[in-house]
Amino acid sequence: MSSSGSPEVRVVRVDLGARAYDVLIGRGLLAHAAQLIEGRAVSPLAIITDSIVLGHYGPAFEQAMKPRGLAAYRLVVEPGEASKSMTTAARLLSELAQIKVSRAGTLIALGGGVIGDLAGFVAASYLRGIGFIQVPTTLLAMVDSSVGGKTGVNLPEGKNLVGAFHQPRLVVADLDTLTTLPAREFNAGMAEVIKYGAIRDRALFDRVANGTTPQDDDLAGIVEKCVAIKARIVERDEFETTGERALLNFGHTLGHAIEKAGGYTRYLHGEAIALGMRAAAWLSVWHPETQLPEADARALEQALLDNDLPLELNPDISRDAVLQALGHDKKVAADGGNRWVLLKKLGEGQSGYTVGPDLIQKALSLLSNHP
Ligand SMILES: NC(=O)c1ccc[n+]([C@@H]2O[C@H](COP(=O)([O-])OP(=O)(O)OC[C@H]3O[C@@H](n4cnc5c(N)ncnc54)[C@H](O)[C@@H]3O)[C@@H](O)[C@H]2O)c1
Ligand SMILES: [Zn+2]
Repeated sequence: MSSSGSPEVRVVRVDLGARAYDVLIGRGLLAHAAQLIEGRAVSPLAIITDSIVLGHYGPAFEQAMKPRGLAAYRLVVEPGEASKSMTTAARLLSELAQIKVSRAGTLIALGGGVIGDLAGFVAASYLRGIGFIQVPTTLLAMVDSSVGGKTGVNLPEGKNLVGAFHQPRLVVADLDTLTTLPAREFNAGMAEVIKYGAIRDRALFDRVANGTTPQDDDLAGIVEKCVAIKARIVERDEFETTGERALLNFGHTLGHAIEKAGGYTRYLHGEAIALGMRAAAWLSVWHPETQLPEADARALEQALLDNDLPLELNPDISRDAVLQALGHDKKVAADGGNRWVLLKKLGEGQSGYTVGPDLIQKALSLLSNHP
């Protein structure tokens, strides 16, 4: 806290013209939520959260809103990916209609990426679109999902198959909320942080390479860097048409396949991405167009290890299942091959590479640790 009693806030502007907004990053922000939100939202507000986050932060957050007259309705869903569904979205839409939230109303997503994606989708759909504010409470949501405007839900047929681009009006990332986040979830978020460093910023990579905790003095700066990298990419490719946004998929081509092969229960997203990044780093070493120095691939492995992320694929996940899942990745190119993000060096990624099946097998062998 600064001497004036107001928390220190870092601000990253996401400059999207009429849809521009600020991402506020700091500690103790929830207690000042009303002050931070004022001017960007009008009542009636509806807070969408899950029951775990509600237990930790719901009452304090609502209390903080009250003195400014920002009375809020509270809509609560079950924690977990299963809530990112059409069924839950339909229920929330009905609840908004029942409490008569108007077009001027604002939704507040208080929670992790599940809540942000779900509430954002509901905000995009209700009355053809109302404003929403992201209050991310997981590291993954702070550095990734709360920024950029991708919202959506899953279908039984696949993840994120329904959705809309709908930018928030404000993002409030209170780092203090991370102190209650299970360490495994925090580390999974670190995988995305390592990703930003690997694709764009060697100095950021070095800052987190030895491991990071929610108490880290440097954390605000680290989150700020990640958000700034994502903001610059989103500004240039808001609707994912130029290919630039695809850079954010480093580690995700294989990572998504591993998540799917594990039935979405074996690995957290960030853990699967850690495996995908390890593979993509070695593919970058072997690929004739990138020729990443081996030392860089080893440094990436060490950083994953030091952030308690997995390096080896669990033996009960078959290579065939991963290969099959790879064939169904959303990012399959028109020619039928997957497009990969590879590294030229640590801190410099590039998208659009084709990788042959032999190299993919080699990468899977590496993850399975039996050549
Ligand atoms: N829109 C995008 O651009 C984008 C990008 C990446 C990921 N995503 C989506 O994000 C989702 C994953 O988000 P996530 O990893 O934040 O998971 P999550 O929202 O499921 O949260 C993880 C768990 O932590 C709990 N939790 C949240 N905050 C907490 C806190 N402060 N203290 C204690 N517990 C807390 C939640 O209740 C939940 O059980 C996926 O659905 C993924 O598709 C979206
Ligand atoms: Zn990701």
